[in-house]
Amino acid sequence: MGKNIKIFDTTLRDGEQSPGCSMNLKEKIQMAKQLEYLKVDIIEAGFAIASEGDFTSVKEIAKTIKGCTIASLARALPKDIDYAWEAVKYADRPRIHTFIATSDIHMKYKLKMKPDEVVQRAVNMVRYAKKYCEDIEFSAEDATRSDPIFLANLFDKVIEAGATVINIPDTVGYTTPDEYFKFLTKIKENSSNIHRAEISVHCHNDLGLAVANTLAAARAGATQFECTINGIGERAGNAALEEIVMAINTRKDILSLECNIDTTQILRSSKLLSTITGVQVQPNKAIVGANAFAHESGIHQHGVLEEKSTYEIMTPESIGLTANKMVLGKHSGRHAFEERLKSLGYELSEEELSKAFKKFKDLADKKKSVFNRDIEAIVTGDFIEVPQAYE
Ligand code: KIV
Ligand code: ZN
Repeated sequence: MGKNIKIFDTTLRDGEQSPGCSMNLKEKIQMAKQLEYLKVDIIEAGFAIASEGDFTSVKEIAKTIKGCTIASLARALPKDIDYAWEAVKYADRPRIHTFIATSDIHMKYKLKMKPDEVVQRAVNMVRYAKKYCEDIEFSAEDATRSDPIFLANLFDKVIEAGATVINIPDTVGYTTPDEYFKFLTKIKENSSNIHRAEISVHCHNDLGLAVANTLAAARAGATQFECTINGIGERAGNAALEEIVMAINTRKDILSLECNIDTTQILRSSKLLSTITGVQVQPNKAIVGANAFAHESGIHQHGVLEEKSTYEIMTPESIGLTANKMVLGKHSGRHAFEERLKSLGYELSEEELSKAFKKFKDLADKKKSVFNRDIEAIVTGDFIEVPQAYE
């Protein structure tokens, strides 16, 4: 049995902050229902004070979704916390998520506050939120560029004030897996209260390390992972839920982690989000990209046709895909070509197959992919070069 990880999905909050990804009320509810099918533990439904639309979305999600904790983000300000509570109070399991920046850069230039004032504000606002609900998450924005001793001290105080979850975000996607592990370990070593709270991590992908950093944090005791579908989010995005979850499931042997996600809902969640936002995932995106379970080269196709595990470390069915995909192109071999012919209902003699395969290779040299209609044209003998515009 591995350590259980709670999946905190912030597609509807941090994800929505991604350019071109804003969603209306109906779309947010649709997405929230899908996240419930996916069995995420916590849905961050929005930033209630950000707009009237956001407030209504958080409120409606809190009323509708009963299988997950529903959180709203709030700056460490009484008004933000009031709005957050007014929206999440309808949830069976409401959470207020309040945050303040803790790095010298943010405190000096953004907040224009002294470190002591930041600590005082954080403590006061956690205490303020606690009068509304039991489940309070506190985030130290830009934590990875903050002093770990300062953070340990701050966390002790906010836990004393009632915080139940301590989030230590890599807000600007700056850290690396080893550094993050050591950073979290140092905070733990210097804090007397942190064992009383759940440790959460929230990683951005500016250096493409969000998922690796998230997984490294588990070794240092993090038990809540914050992430988004398709990895959408500010700038280069957040850690991708589907990558984290499939890493947990595929590498149980090395990570010793478990989570409650129904992985067969992953593809559906990814597609729904793309449909809603109009933002497509890149074809080579891990897990949910169009090529994630596609094979083109002859060597790989031959291997997979003999035994799937030669080139597939997880099954397409495990993410909700019906089958892998054999893409016929110039790298494909005779084996895959013959399999495709059979699936189209053609049994060719050895000689016919050799001729057809030669024609296929000639065509594949001229086109990006060879489709079933091209193959049919080859074997029925009336192959004509397909004009580019026809593809
Ligand atoms: O990236 C970040 O630090 C955030 C916090 C508000 C949790 O999104
Ligand atoms: Zn973030």
